[in-house]
Amino acid sequence: MDTHINQSLFDLVNQPLPIGDKVITKRLVLAPMTILGNIAFRELLSHYGGYGLLFSEMCSAKQLPNENPIHSGYFRWREEEREHLIFQIFGSNPSEMANAAKRLESEGFFGVDINFGCSVASICQKKCGAALLKTPELAVKIVKAVRKSVAIPVFVKFRTGWKDDPNIPVDLAKRFEDAGADALTFHPRVSPDRRTRRPRWEYIAMVKNAVNIPVFGNGNVFDASGCLKMINDTGCDGIAVGRMAIAQPWCFAQWSQGFQPDIKTFQEAAILLSRLMEKHYSASMGLRRYKKFAAYFSSNFQFGHTLFNRINKTDSMKEIRKIVNNFFRLPPRLFLCPNLNFLI
Ligand SMILES: Cc1cc2nc3c(=O)[nH]c(=O)nc-3n(C[C@H](O)[C@H](O)[C@H](O)COP(=O)(O)O)c2cc1C
Repeated sequence: MDTHINQSLFDLVNQPLPIGDKVITKRLVLAPMTILGNIAFRELLSHYGGYGLLFSEMCSAKQLPNENPIHSGYFRWREEEREHLIFQIFGSNPSEMANAAKRLESEGFFGVDINFGCSVASICQKKCGAALLKTPELAVKIVKAVRKSVAIPVFVKFRTGWKDDPNIPVDLAKRFEDAGADALTFHPRVSPDRRTRRPRWEYIAMVKNAVNIPVFGNGNVFDASGCLKMINDTGCDGIAVGRMAIAQPWCFAQWSQGFQPDIKTFQEAAILLSRLMEKHYSASMGLRRYKKFAAYFSSNFQFGHTLFNRINKTDSMKEIRKIVNNFFRLPPRLFLCPNLNFLI
């Protein structure tokens, strides 16, 4: 990595950032991702470090108050991560969202994140996630209700909306701030565009300029120079990294502390995650999650589809470790940047 980029980026991302009445010491955070941001994967990330916060998979606000971490697939955590973990909730009923937030506060997490960004049909049909951007009054009511119910930091994650007009997210950002949000994560894409078109980073700058609370920019940050560019171009206070963190779980350590991966790092991470899946999940739950990870991880390599196809056909972690070790016997060629855009 260019040493100039290196130093400028370290200086920016290692500055403390106040959020509500708490402070984070690093400004790169893991974006919330269903299935992918599970407890085992988060333990893998903690092996490398370099992040300020970890966002969980989204959780249904309706179910959360009764969710049992012993049985739940998504509502699980390690004691060590509690203080920098944020659970994300989705729902459309303000009092259900408030109750879910109370449960999260009682468990001692850093904060709660409200999902107004998910544009998956099954979530939007229930009028949750990004669907709420069509009814800003209800979205604001939800933020107010959550704010009133807890003292921990309240985050809102949202996207451009349903029309490609920057005035919409700018207006929403101000309303979320007025409703009591402590920080925003903004993904500048319209719904229902998943990730095919480029996110419009210029909208992040507009949102940042419109509010006085921290704004995390999000979308298509794949390397250190992209990271630096997003901060410099938009003035955002931090960056939420999604897919790249799955493909290269050391990216936070690399971009904030100068960690230097080599090909062994890739092999070791894939093996370690298989062990962590066994530690935290039953065989079927672990395999499902590992296979989702494998799609992103495989995109690092020329002929990575072979690796993915083999893993995907397997039904044992032991077999997966054999496949991974075989793949690395002759060192595979790494792509300069994995093509993550078409992965869902
Ligand atoms: C498989 C997958 C699952 C996701 N799940 C969620 C989610 O549960 N909640 C959410 O707010 N965003 C979710 N997202 C969106 C990401 O948080 C992020 O906004 C998006 O991937 C763009 O960031 P990136 O370019 O750094 O990946 C998901 C993205 C992916 C790829």
